[in-house]
Amino acid sequence: MSNHEVRMSEWVDRVLPSPTAALESTVAKLQREGQTVHRLGLGQPDFPTPDRAKQAAIQAIEDNFTGYTDTGGILSLRQAVCDSLRKEMNLSYEPDQIVVSAGGKQALFNAICTLCREGDEVLIPIPYWVSFPEQVKFAGGKPIFVPTLPEQGYKTTPETLAPYVNESTRILILNHPNNPSGAVYSTRELLELAAFCQRNNLWVISDEVYSTFVFTPEKFTSIAAFPGMKERTVVINAVSKSYSMTGWRIGYAAAPQAVAQAMLRLQSHTTSNPSSIAQKAALAAIVGPQNEMEPIHNEYLARRDYFVEAVRGLQGLECLVPDGAFYVWVDASYWCGRKLLGRMIHSSDDLAAALLQEAGVAVMPGTGFGSPTHLRLSFAVSRSELESGIAAMEAILGLK
Ligand SMILES: Cc1ncc(COP(=O)(O)O)c(C=O)c1O
Repeated sequence: MSNHEVRMSEWVDRVLPSPTAALESTVAKLQREGQTVHRLGLGQPDFPTPDRAKQAAIQAIEDNFTGYTDTGGILSLRQAVCDSLRKEMNLSYEPDQIVVSAGGKQALFNAICTLCREGDEVLIPIPYWVSFPEQVKFAGGKPIFVPTLPEQGYKTTPETLAPYVNESTRILILNHPNNPSGAVYSTRELLELAAFCQRNNLWVISDEVYSTFVFTPEKFTSIAAFPGMKERTVVINAVSKSYSMTGWRIGYAAAPQAVAQAMLRLQSHTTSNPSSIAQKAALAAIVGPQNEMEPIHNEYLARRDYFVEAVRGLQGLECLVPDGAFYVWVDASYWCGRKLLGRMIHSSDDLAAALLQEAGVAVMPGTGFGSPTHLRLSFAVSRSELESGIAAMEAILGLK
């Protein structure tokens, strides 16, 4: 039976497939077929999950901690999240304001479905993470894409947002450090955005899943930390990126109590609690010594510096130095409208396809992030993989 023959719900018809998940499965298929693929496209940290988290999971299984838990997560984990938010972000929450979910993605989904009514407009600065618009559309909201400029570090400002605000505007989705641009907002920039959101009575969904990947001297700041903001912000975070735990599927939302309770209600009828075993692992990761992550952080910084330099050396590719996360947002507009190895390149989708087929390099086209002339490259892979990926790209693109 083809898709055309099945009458599907209007909800599911509203959403497009995830391009990042699609790339993941294409790469896995090519590797199963024995092809060498240089994986420069995916948001998957290559460091292992910390031992203490693995041991806690093994212990949980041995202790038969394998039943349902509280829908919003075990109390010890919610308390640990509160302690961490207080210590790292100067944010004060109680455990009943925390909802633990199956990854940051579900936490975002809960938040968007809870805050967004049919027809509500949601401001999404470009470039954005691929799931934001799809989740907004699923919830019946209208994504309103707001361009940003490379000269402003791909960051949004009250001035750029203002023309897009009307009486239907309800939420700003702020993601910093940003996937894909790596933009990190300074305290001053956040203060201005906070004032703007208060003036316009907007909620903020603050996606902070890369908060531990900041390479500037200024420490990460959450917009929720500014006076008057905690009551209009849902903070989203996860252990996925910070502790190399993407497959464990633990993320969380911190929100005003009424919003947290509504998100809990939604989760109680969808997935219930996230895995009991993974919760124990996440707890161990969050309460353990955080300075263990320092060498990893330094390695990411060294990779970033190498990678940016190498990408900038390639013909037709331009990028800024990302201040956070582990991606490089590459302007490839030079190639759009040109031929590469006899293939016409119309957009970064064509360029990404050429790089994969002709050079065995997997990169994400920018289309799903809001720009069909950009590529998103990731440096969450080993130095040797970065080097071989760059060499393979150089072989077909050439040097400047
Ligand atoms: C900006 C952003 N938010 C949320 C997520 C989802 O994270 P998780 O794997 O915890 O669901 C990702 C994952 O790539 C992301 O890049």
